[in-house]
Formats: sequence, structure tokens, C-alpha cells
Amino acid sequence: MSLSIADLQKKKANGEKITMITAYDATFTLLVEAAGIDIILIGDSLGNVIQGRSTTLPVTLDEMIYHASCVSRVSKHSFLVCDLNFGSYQCSTEDGLRSAIRIMKESQVHCVKLEGGARVLELTQAITDAGIPVMGHLGLTPQSVHQMGGFKVQGRDEKLAAAIKADALALQDAGASSLVLEGIPRGLAAEITASLAIPTIGIGAGSDCDGQVLVLQDLLGLNMGKMAKFVKPYAKLGQSTIDAVSQYIAEVKSGQFPDDAHSYR
Ligand code: KIV
Repeated sequence: MSLSIADLQKKKANGEKITMITAYDATFTLLVEAAGIDIILIGDSLGNVIQGRSTTLPVTLDEMIYHASCVSRVSKHSFLVCDLNFGSYQCSTEDGLRSAIRIMKESQVHCVKLEGGARVLELTQAITDAGIPVMGHLGLTPQSVHQMGGFKVQGRDEKLAAAIKADALALQDAGASSLVLEGIPRGLAAEITASLAIPTIGIGAGSDCDGQVLVLQDLLGLNMGKMAKFVKPYAKLGQSTIDAVSQYIAEVKSGQFPDDAHSYR
């Protein structure tokens, strides 16, 4: 049985931290579930990590549904959250609701995530009213990268901090069941977390959130490029991959692979 919103709510009430990680395919889903992760996010960060794009903006709804299906097909325990991609909910509430329903029907996840505050309140209410859990996303919202002038920490000045706090409460009132806080000062994240009944999940928002999320490839050290300050690589799988493939190349070239043990008689 998969984790539910009620289980996540209970963790907040008991002061037990919630763990969340991105995954976009079956192989990594099985591995992160074996490790005991609470929430898997099929994030539109797949645009960066899987598709090699510089922003998440070009990712399509069909691509989100494809990757979410790869995850849900093998998942047994985690609460599964799928991002609503840019363009699938900005035009109208009806458009957004249709996109959320497509995700739920075609990819068998448990929740959708969408970015923004005041402008998505009506949609959050509509999706919740349709019986679909919603995870909000405030602070550094990558789908608005060009409006923010880059991937920058948000809410350092009082006016924006107050707006993010107000958006968090309004999203909760509109029915959101949890909230990602990305790229905001830790003091602001702590204040928001204390003011809400729903769990907050932080990324670059300090340790006082109810839970934490990272992009899996960053955590595993598979991303060999420049890393944001908040990322902590827990392994060096990028270098391990290069080493393993280099050895394979050398052994194929020298005739050492395949040896007898790896051949049929
Ligand atoms: O798309 C994503 O991976 C995300 C997380 C960084 C929160 O939205």
C-alpha cells in the first residue's frame, strides 16, 4: 500500500521528517523505494536531467505522463507526485483541470504539483474539488525563470517574503495538501512551516521544513556540471560510471571481455 496524504500529515504532526526525491524511470524508482523514500516526484526537472535542456519550459504533458507511468508501473510504497508542466495550466482553470485529470487517468500517480501562488488559487481549488491532491510550489519557481531573471533565491526582501507567506496560507486554504518551498531564506521557510497545518518540503530552504527534496541525479553525483549551493552529493556515480565504461572499452579493445565465464558453450 502506498503512503497517503494522511500519512504525510501524521509525519508533520509527529515531527517526523518527510523524504522526497525525483525519479523519472522504473530502474531508479525501484532503487529509491528499496532505500525507503516517502515521496517520489516525477518533476519537470526531467527537462534538464533527462532531456538536456537548460530550462523546464519545453517539457510537454505527454512527456510528463510517459515518465510518470514508468515510475508508477513499478512503484509499491511511495506517494507519487507528478508536475503539471509549463503550458498545461497557465491558460485557464479548465485547461489546468483537464491536464491534472489526464495525469491522474493516464499515469496512476497520487497527486499533481503546480507552481505559483495567487494566480493558481482557483485552479488549486478546482483540482482539489475534483478529488485530486495538489502539492503547491513557491519561492524559486523554475517555470518562471525568465520573469525572475534567472534561478535566484527569492524572498530576501520583506515585500516578496510577505507575498510568499500570504501565498502559502492562501494555497492551504484553497485545498493544497502540501507545499514545496524552493530557494528561499531558511528563516522564511521556518516561519511558513510553523504557520501551516500542511507539510512543507524544502529544497534550498533550510532544515526547518517538514521534509526535504533533491533531484536524484544531483544527490548521486551523476550531474558533473556546476551544482547549486543547496545540493549535497551523497555518492560519486558520475565518476564511477566513467571509470566503469572506460574499463569496458579497454577490455573490449584488448579482447579481455567477453572471457569464458561470460560466453556460452
Ligand atoms: O521538477 C522538480 O524536480 C522540482 C523539484 C526541484 C522540487 O520541482
